[in-house]
Amino acid sequence: MTAYHHRTEEAHQLIPPGGYTDQHYFEIEQDVIFSRYWNFAGMTDDIPNPGDFRCTQAGRYPLVVVRDDEGEIHAFHNICRHRGTQFMEGSGNSPKGLQCPYHKWFYELNGNLKAIPREDPLFPGIQKDQMGLMPAAIGIFRGLMFVHPDPTPAETFQTFCASLEDKIGPHQPNQMVELGVSRHEFEANWKMVVENYMDAYHLFYLHERSAATFDHEQFEWDTTGRHYLFYEPVVEKYRHWADKVYGDGPIGVVPGTDPQTYGGTFHMLFPNIGWVGMAHSWSTFHAIPVSAERTIVESRIRVMPDAAEQMKSSRRFEDRFNKGDINLVTLDDCPTPPMESDNLMFEDMWACRQMQRAMHSPAFKVGAMARTFESTLTFYQRNVLDFVTYE
Ligand code: FES
Ligand SMILES: [Fe+2]
Repeated sequence: MTAYHHRTEEAHQLIPPGGYTDQHYFEIEQDVIFSRYWNFAGMTDDIPNPGDFRCTQAGRYPLVVVRDDEGEIHAFHNICRHRGTQFMEGSGNSPKGLQCPYHKWFYELNGNLKAIPREDPLFPGIQKDQMGLMPAAIGIFRGLMFVHPDPTPAETFQTFCASLEDKIGPHQPNQMVELGVSRHEFEANWKMVVENYMDAYHLFYLHERSAATFDHEQFEWDTTGRHYLFYEPVVEKYRHWADKVYGDGPIGVVPGTDPQTYGGTFHMLFPNIGWVGMAHSWSTFHAIPVSAERTIVESRIRVMPDAAEQMKSSRRFEDRFNKGDINLVTLDDCPTPPMESDNLMFEDMWACRQMQRAMHSPAFKVGAMARTFESTLTFYQRNVLDFVTYE
């Protein structure tokens, strides 16, 4: 495995436009990044009880995570050992074990093949103990589940995590309560969406009002392993904004943060799972690749248990999560021109779409990139280039 890259002040566009527009490269990325790397697969509390399962995808590999009777979480290939059906769908609870509907082969929650209908006489000599579900690897970090199609990956989960434990900050999402999930459609390549998230230069301009509470001038960034870590404090004049939202009581404050000064962490765990930690919340920014030019960003937002009820009944929550339903928000849903919306997501959706469109022009080129503020993208692209060669 290539040595990791580090923080840099240089800023260069290293991936050519075709890397963002060409479906051929999208397919290669599915093969050599997502099929061979750790993928975010949800939270451990998505599957709290024995028999709870959740299907997920790691590049080409359909996988399923399952909690067994001892409370242990396993990841398996979602492939029946009989004829190979992708036999589990969605998520749910199947306390006795996992059964393939096609011919009803039945697996225990630990993956062992338990029963084959009419084993005798139809499968003479079959060795059931060799026919359990194929294992995949699972790693858990503060409640986030990561899966890898290879049960013994070259890059272990410990290596993948690098120094995240020391550097990622105080948020413990596994001790927070989920308010809902929002999904936004970006008409852009997944790397463009990630790079836009990591671009510290646009915060001043595209988000002049929508991100005005943060002091971008004081931003700090760091790296560990392939991951990017970003923090910025609250600007002086917004120090008391939190009081207006939450009243006088110090409710809902994430331990280890001071709402007067703590702005936000906007990390990106390679390759596509953003970690957004603020004084009162934590959320994901999961840039899920759909095609070369379409990405869905899934944000799961969590708050401290003592603020959950208040937040759930707030107008802000209703607006954002539509009472917890999962909707796909598109640019067409923006009630105003996106640049007049003062909505950070719509602004980003617009900027990504417009960059994506321009990349089809033979005249497209990146003229220059800002030192430090856009060198975050260079760091990211170097990591991508460890996996993929773009012409
Ligand atoms: S394919 Fe699963 S039981 Fe036949
Ligand atoms: Fe942005």
